[in-house]
Amino acid sequence: MNIKNAAPDYPIQKALAERWSPYGFEDRPVSEADLRSLFEAARWAASSYNEQPWNYLVATRENSTEFGRLVSCLVEANQAWAKAAPVLVLGVVSLQFARTKQDNRAAVHDLGLAAGNLVVEATARGLSVHQMIGILPDQAREVYRIPQHFEAWTAMAIGYKADPAKLPDALKERDLAPRQRKPLNEFVFAGRWGQPGVFLPQHPKPI
Ligand SMILES: Cc1cc2nc3c(=O)[nH]c(=O)nc-3n(C[C@H](O)[C@H](O)[C@H](O)COP(=O)(O)O)c2cc1C
Repeated sequence: MNIKNAAPDYPIQKALAERWSPYGFEDRPVSEADLRSLFEAARWAASSYNEQPWNYLVATRENSTEFGRLVSCLVEANQAWAKAAPVLVLGVVSLQFARTKQDNRAAVHDLGLAAGNLVVEATARGLSVHQMIGILPDQAREVYRIPQHFEAWTAMAIGYKADPAKLPDALKERDLAPRQRKPLNEFVFAGRWGQPGVFLPQHPKPI
């Protein structure tokens, strides 16, 4: 078992347990068929009023000019490692309902849901995704002529994770670092804020 896999306290699906965000990627392209399936998975995400507020801009390393344009939309700290990934994606969200022009308060939530679908599909196919909030939205708007009411919000690096042993020290350390999570009783409450749900072991027993 990969040491980065989740060590869940309760059983979860394989693709969820095997997902993690690598900093190192193999120099190996992602097939067009896989890319189609990743965005197909995103397409079938739930969204408020079925608005489907997500849009994507994609660049592969095979086209170095296009790839460079997308890299230029990431903050430097992310450029440093993400430029080695074979595929980069910018997630762009429509913040208004297309029909009514009202604000869509669920838009960013739904971009995240679509990302969740994409990431699970990728993991099931042996691919890894590293999501990023560290992007340059103004630069993205300029580079891609993103229209008003749409915002570049996040990015994703997609590819086959590298063997950490073959990575430079800084990346190796990050890709070998243990993963940590809060236990369920710190964030799943019932009855009042801070009280763990009754189905959790630390729920105070009635006297
Ligand atoms: C919306 C979002 C934005 C993130 N932004 C960045 C980022 O800009 N740079 C980065 O190195 N990691 C980023 N991450 C990765 C998180 O740091 C990572 O998911 C978290 O540490 C948990 O690790 P895991 O994904 O391996 O479980 C982001 C993750 C998400 C979901």
